[in-house]
Amino acid sequence: MTLSFGLGLRTQHYNDFLTAPQPVDWLEVISDNYMVDGGKPLTMLDRIRADYPMTMHGVSMSIGSINGLDEDYLKKLKKLEQRIEPMWVSDHLCWTGCHGKKLHDLMPLPFTLEAIDVVVRNVQQAQEVLQRPLVLENVSSYVEFTSSEMTEWEFLSEVCERAGSELLLDINNIYVSAVNHGFKAEDFINGVPADRVRQFHLAGHQNNGDYLIDTHDHPVCGDVWDLYIYALIRFGETPTMIERDANIPPLEELLAELDKARNLAYSVFPKNVPLAKGA
Ligand SMILES: [Fe+2]
Repeated sequence: MTLSFGLGLRTQHYNDFLTAPQPVDWLEVISDNYMVDGGKPLTMLDRIRADYPMTMHGVSMSIGSINGLDEDYLKKLKKLEQRIEPMWVSDHLCWTGCHGKKLHDLMPLPFTLEAIDVVVRNVQQAQEVLQRPLVLENVSSYVEFTSSEMTEWEFLSEVCERAGSELLLDINNIYVSAVNHGFKAEDFINGVPADRVRQFHLAGHQNNGDYLIDTHDHPVCGDVWDLYIYALIRFGETPTMIERDANIPPLEELLAELDKARNLAYSVFPKNVPLAKGA
């Protein structure tokens, strides 16, 4: 894996990417926004893709669904994948609806052997279509199932092992869940297989005093930056992205946050500091 730094592509920044080169190594696009046959978003995507490598990040595959995956969704996802040739394709380890109803939210799964069977079957279905490993992101949560038989990191690890999938670790989501459920974020990071980690997300959250909400509408907080350093030491050089989903600031603000990630990562892996111009 290599150290690289990306941003999530948001409509507010289309023009910034179309009018001048921006200091990002790649862009992550929300797959669901582009799984259409035509129109302006797809045109914008094609034009920006001409200049930037991309990754695809989905929000509604519902990999934990007991009903199996939506074949029409997978077909559209495959079509987009063939169009933009992403470096990898990710979605969330969660469920987002049942019986044909969509919740438009990322719901946590019970960490049980039965749920592992369901997820592994669904991951295999997705991977069969995509013909590549699916990258799964850990979601943050606010409640736990009394039926859970293991920790979240044991659950993630077993899914990866059995399905051959990979991990997108959202460092903020680990922190939010650790605070909400009272576990040590470092235990999570130490508990997942290092060779499966494909990408990091860094994001902000809302602090409500005795619990945190994963709003993705704030800058990354100090504790999450500390955890990012811990994760870099544990997993090595890993592609890193600032993820902002609401309260989208001007691109310059996100680039400054990405610069902070860059500087922290270079402090952990100093050999990768780029040479100054003319050096
Ligand atoms: Fe994330």
